[in-house]
Amino acid sequence: NADPKELLELASRLAAEAGRVLVQERPRDLGVASTKSSPTDVVTVMDQRSEKLIVEGILAERPDDGLLGEEGANREGTSGVRWVIDPIDGTVNYLYEIPQWCVSIGVEIDGETVAGVVEIPMLGETFTALRGHGAWRNGETIRAYSAQSEGKPVPLERALVATGFGYAAQRRAVQGAIVADLLPLVRDIRRGGSAAIDLCSVACGRVDGYFERGTNPWDIAAGGLIVQEAGGKLGGLRGTAASVDMTVAAAPGLYEALCEFLEEHDADRDS
Ligand code: IPD
Repeated sequence: NADPKELLELASRLAAEAGRVLVQERPRDLGVASTKSSPTDVVTVMDQRSEKLIVEGILAERPDDGLLGEEGANREGTSGVRWVIDPIDGTVNYLYEIPQWCVSIGVEIDGETVAGVVEIPMLGETFTALRGHGAWRNGETIRAYSAQSEGKPVPLERALVATGFGYAAQRRAVQGAIVADLLPLVRDIRRGGSAAIDLCSVACGRVDGYFERGTNPWDIAAGGLIVQEAGGKLGGLRGTAASVDMTVAAAPGLYEALCEFLEEHDADRDS
């Protein structure tokens, strides 16, 4: 009996509130609270604060819902609704005061993402999507084609491709080698530092495509729906769904070309 539109409204309100707190109450000497998988994988006190604010806001209105958050929220729930939360996606950017970081909230009903919001406070951008109804940036409909593509599929050699790297050194070495092979074949590469923003960038045509190995559910829940609702394709390699193994997003045409390159390089495998 959950209405996706109402869920999106709550998600948007909480993402905006968390965004405000992250901007206005960022300590001057923002320390790193702890590291996670490796010294490069940091979590700040503000990641934890943002997740707490969002979780409390959800449970105050919807006490029976499930939760999955990057900073530890994990709850089954009984309503069939689950909130997938990245309280700061792009934590390293946030730490260095690079404006490309966001709050990402995806909402699932019975395991399917039905609504998503990516709030980018420093850019003044809010990306939203509702399954079956479209994707928007600050309320305006967006499409996953860049202005350069004139609505036609972009060939690989003219594609601006975003990517990201995991935190484990071993995996980075492999990812770096694949990017080195891709670089001569494309217009250029971007490493923005937030998977959720990379997906929104595909959705509004700010880049042509995106791929990354090692994304977690909270990195891609909202942004993945935003890409699809903007007419882009989202998936993994060899016909699988987007997952920790590989996430690829692009407009049709380029999507297939990117998947083909990545499959040839076994980019969804570590060896
Ligand atoms: C990270 C960012 C980064 C991506 C990593 C993510 P976090 O999320 O999205 O761009 O390359 O895979 O883990 O740790 O800043 O929330």
